[in-house]
Amino acid sequence: VTVAAGRTRLVIIGAAGRMGTSLMRVLEQFPQLQLHAAIAAGARAVLGRDSGELAGTAPNGVRLSTGLGPALRGAGLALDYSVATASAATVRACATAGVPLLLGTTGLGPEMPAILEAAATQIPLLVAANTSLGVAVLQELVQQAAASLGEDFDIQIQETHHRGKLDSPSGTALALGAAALAGRGPTAAVGYASLRGGDVVGEHEIHFLGPGERLRLAHSATDRSVFARGALRAGCWLVRQGPGRYRMADVLGKK
Ligand SMILES: NC(=O)c1ccc[n+]([C@@H]2O[C@H](COP(=O)([O-])OP(=O)(O)OC[C@H]3O[C@@H](n4cnc5c(N)ncnc54)[C@H](OP(=O)(O)O)[C@@H]3O)[C@@H](O)[C@H]2O)c1
Repeated sequence: VTVAAGRTRLVIIGAAGRMGTSLMRVLEQFPQLQLHAAIAAGARAVLGRDSGELAGTAPNGVRLSTGLGPALRGAGLALDYSVATASAATVRACATAGVPLLLGTTGLGPEMPAILEAAATQIPLLVAANTSLGVAVLQELVQQAAASLGEDFDIQIQETHHRGKLDSPSGTALALGAAALAGRGPTAAVGYASLRGGDVVGEHEIHFLGPGERLRLAHSATDRSVFARGALRAGCWLVRQGPGRYRMADVLGKK
């Protein structure tokens, strides 16, 4: 791969998936990034295929491969949208290689907080269950509503996703729940409901159900590219940071 001076070499992990191919398609909008490696799962028939072609864009000369360790050599940024079972190994590999990581994979296991904390002492690390601008704003609105409405308002979160989604509730729903608790207090109760089916990209609705009135806040993603563009934008920001743990709100300059 030839790399133009000053461009950040990017590794996409989960490159053959829904998000991976979406990232590949919007990558040309980020001339400061140069695709360095496209990592797929070991058992895939896609291995060896041109990652751009697979995503439906022009061939880019970067073939889908396994072997994250070697791929991280010389890389400046990694984006992970794959499966939660691989997250521990991915985070450790990026920390060892000194490569900033945006971890977009959701459904992370209970072992992950300690692993993420350790890695953040070595690399800039952004963990984001949702990299859309709308959801970043929604989190703020939820926190504000939860703080302003009294305890007689019950908080319920409903989310709908495509039939292929593995985790439930969605990482975004859990992040919105965390925002509600940040506003209301850690001992408050939040209920979750999940629907799965069809090709729904992602819908989240937060209900504040009170006596005689009801407030609803909602977000719908109609195109996966909103997550992909947000991720690449966040990645460009992340490479300029020192080691530490970051959130989308940091990227957007919010507290
Ligand atoms: N942060 C956000 O904004 C955001 C937005 C959308 C989705 N997500 C999350 O991102 C993740 C991926 O979502 P998706 O819809 O793109 O899923 P997907 O279409 O199933 O793609 C995941 C890809 O990762 C591959 N994979 C599995 N193990 C791997 C490994 N060890 N190394 C590299 N690749 C591996 C899978 O290959 P196989 O098919 O061969 O197993 C698959 O191609 C999910 O956790 C989802 O919740 C986050």
